[in-house]
Amino acid sequence: MFSKLFIFFIILSQSLQDSSSQVLSFTYNGFHPPLTDISVQGIATVTPNGLLKLNNITQRETGHAFYTKPIRFKDSPNGTVSSFSTTFVFAIHSEFPILSSHGMAFVVAPNASLPYGTPSQYLGLFNITNDGNETNHVFAVEFDTVMNIEFNDINNNHVGIDINSLKSVQSSQAGYWDETGQFKNLSLISRKRMQVWVDYDGLTHQIDVSMSPFRKSKPTKPLVSIARDLSSVLLQDMFVGFSSATGSLQSEHFVLGWSFGVNGKAPPLSLSKLPKLPRWEPRKIDIFFKKWMPTISIVVILLVFVPSLIFLVRFILWRKRKFAEELEDWETNLGKNYRLKFKDLYYATQGFKEEGLLGSGGFGSVYKGVMPKTRQEIAVKRVSNESQQGLKEFVSEIVSIGRMSHRNLVPLLGYCRRKNELLLVYDYMPNGSLDKYLYNSPELTLGWKQRIKVINGVASALFFLHEEWEQVVIHRDVKSSNVLLDTEYNGRLGDFGLARLCGHGSDPQTTRVAGTWGYLAPDHVRTGHATTATDVFAFGVLLLEVVCGRRPIEIQNESGERVFIVDWVFRFWIEGNILDAKDPKLGSVYDRREVEMVLKLGLMCSHSEPYIRPPMRQVIQYLRGDAMLPDLSPLDLHGRGMMLGIHHGFGESGMFTGATSIVDYDSILSGGR
Ligand SMILES: Nc1ncnc2c1ncn2[C@@H]1O[C@H](COP(=O)(O)OP(=O)(O)OP(=O)(O)O)[C@@H](O)[C@H]1O
Ligand SMILES: *[C@@H]1O[C@H](CO)[C@@H](O)[C@H](O)[C@H]1NC(C)=O
Ligand SMILES: *[C@@H]1O[C@H](CO)[C@@H](O)[C@H](O)[C@H]1NC(C)=O
Ligand SMILES: *[C@@H]1O[C@H](CO)[C@@H](O)[C@H](O)[C@H]1NC(C)=O
Ligand SMILES: *[C@@H]1O[C@H](CO)[C@@H](O)[C@H](O)[C@H]1NC(C)=O
Ligand SMILES: *[C@@H]1O[C@H](CO)[C@@H](O)[C@H](O)[C@H]1NC(C)=O
Ligand SMILES: *[C@@H]1O[C@H](CO)[C@@H](O)[C@H](O)[C@H]1NC(C)=O
Ligand SMILES: [Mg+2]
Repeated sequence: MFSKLFIFFIILSQSLQDSSSQVLSFTYNGFHPPLTDISVQGIATVTPNGLLKLNNITQRETGHAFYTKPIRFKDSPNGTVSSFSTTFVFAIHSEFPILSSHGMAFVVAPNASLPYGTPSQYLGLFNITNDGNETNHVFAVEFDTVMNIEFNDINNNHVGIDINSLKSVQSSQAGYWDETGQFKNLSLISRKRMQVWVDYDGLTHQIDVSMSPFRKSKPTKPLVSIARDLSSVLLQDMFVGFSSATGSLQSEHFVLGWSFGVNGKAPPLSLSKLPKLPRWEPRKIDIFFKKWMPTISIVVILLVFVPSLIFLVRFILWRKRKFAEELEDWETNLGKNYRLKFKDLYYATQGFKEEGLLGSGGFGSVYKGVMPKTRQEIAVKRVSNESQQGLKEFVSEIVSIGRMSHRNLVPLLGYCRRKNELLLVYDYMPNGSLDKYLYNSPELTLGWKQRIKVINGVASALFFLHEEWEQVVIHRDVKSSNVLLDTEYNGRLGDFGLARLCGHGSDPQTTRVAGTWGYLAPDHVRTGHATTATDVFAFGVLLLEVVCGRRPIEIQNESGERVFIVDWVFRFWIEGNILDAKDPKLGSVYDRREVEMVLKLGLMCSHSEPYIRPPMRQVIQYLRGDAMLPDLSPLDLHGRGMMLGIHHGFGESGMFTGATSIVDYDSILSGGR
């Protein structure tokens, strides 16, 4: 009996000893030395002031910390898992405030180490082959700061319950439910201290995870919650601890205090006793930058800013040169309203591009453009000039002409002067110049009514220049390509006064004659002087051109001889059939008398003797029918010494281009002999 009792006591004391040797709870209010029963592995350390620092800034490493004594989770190997509970305070510090390296986890594992856990997204818990394997026997609560799609992570700031796998069985955005039942977000990487509670109920198998900001009480509603029997997961004796991993960004995981209890609540932590977090110290590289920043910035400024400044200055200078204009005192009062900006013209013509070229003449090229602001269509004539003196006179003349508006003059909108060129801006004439309708098998020919309308228009423009304006203006370049047709096919005279720009000079020995071959009066060539009569001569040639549809000078196919239109018409007259000179393209609708009159008037105007040529006032009277053309016979004109054409003198040697050319007076005289 006694021995039985003795044996009973022995067993009882053994079992008591047994259970007393079993750990039921522990508490760490900081991990102060002398630290017992905690083992740190990998890059985990315990700081002198008692912080459990699970990692350091080494990239792609793991850190573990375990309570070294086994915890009995089951009464028998095949039993059910007892209730257990833990709470801890942690903080995560990240290199960047919005990005972090990988997170950390509370872990229950079969061993006091996780030698096969790999860093980065595996959080030091598992590796690529064993993740998800039931033989792991690992239970963990992860605090993940990176979103890994492979593990179905919900975001980069979540709390999850992991069983043998990083694919959480349940997870939630980090945060807590406050007393009023509202959800409040928490940022894991906020560097702020947070407290966590993990509770497992052995009867209901309820796993609850809660968290809250430091010093706030445990929320009544858990953050993550799931019912799961851990009996098949946990072995009889297990080890509890923390796991952490780093990736390529730097972060630091701290545990400030921790308590654990099995078959009961985890003992509460004394929050006031917990160690202080370190002040976040700038890294060495930051200190380096702080120290060298002024030098670095200066170097960067020198390397980047100075060259770009030089570039900018050069660009501005280049632009200035590109859009440079010349403006003198005398222009400021005179031409204010007519000065246009080269920049505007440049943009209007899209940089004087080839597609906008309307044509080229003796003075330069004409480009079509659209004024940027007003959307007005313009024609810009680019004239290169050498004579500054001539230019001054010319500009004052065009400005004064610009003031006069006449329905048969091409309106001058303005001008722009540059170093070696002058730009004249005219209204754009949509129907182009008259010459395009006369010869070279034109697409469109003009009927007699239209032709006489154009002739009348040009005549009244010329009359206006010669007599109606306050001063006598000599056009100097009357010809079909300078007669432009507006939308209603009115003839409008353009390019007045330009010839003067080139012909100018005070020394009669070098004065050059400018005009266009075929339109140049012999007296003009002889004296180098343009007069109203020389304009009338050109007008006469124009009349013949319009009626005959023939160039002023045509090269005979067979002989190659140059035939002057005046001679050609005159020959018909002598033969008594002047009407045969008319353009065959005219068809049959025309006024015989009018055609004949215009032909004779043309011959009269282009008479070699200036005094025979009628002034424009009279020309207009003839054209209107207000006066009758004197009834001349060809012999009358001939008898008075009509010397037709000027080409007899120098036609063979002269250059014939059809455009304005400059005739050297001296060489004409010598060449004529
Ligand atoms: N205001 C304008 N509107 C439309 N086209 C024009 C205008 N001014 C000129 N042009 C076109 O540009 C072409 C070239 O003109 P430009 O005055 O340079 O040469 P030209 O008249 O043949 O010779 P010149 O240099 O003796 O005047 C003309 O043939 C004409 O078709
Ligand atoms: C990180 O911790 C490990 C282990 O303690 C140590 O060897 C390593 O030097 C540490 N690295 C840094 C950058 O502190
Ligand atoms: C525990 O379970 C295993 C397999 O389920 C069985 O082989 C073993 O006998 C059980 N042990 C006890 C003590 O019940
Ligand atoms: C880990 O635990 C298992 C089973 O509990 C045991 O067989 C093994 O020896 C342990 N390994 C280490 C390194 O402690
Ligand atoms: C993963 O861990 C297991 C043990 O759990 C080990 O056998 C295996 O070799 C590890 N695999 C890798 C790739 O590290
Ligand atoms: C789980 O791991 C064990 C041992 O490492 C292995 O034999 C088994 O094949 C693994 N199971 C799966 C599904 O990977
Ligand atoms: C909490 O975080 C989630 C996910 O980042 C976000 O959608 C939500 O708007 C946040 N709520 C508050 C109150 O900041
Ligand atoms: Mg012209």
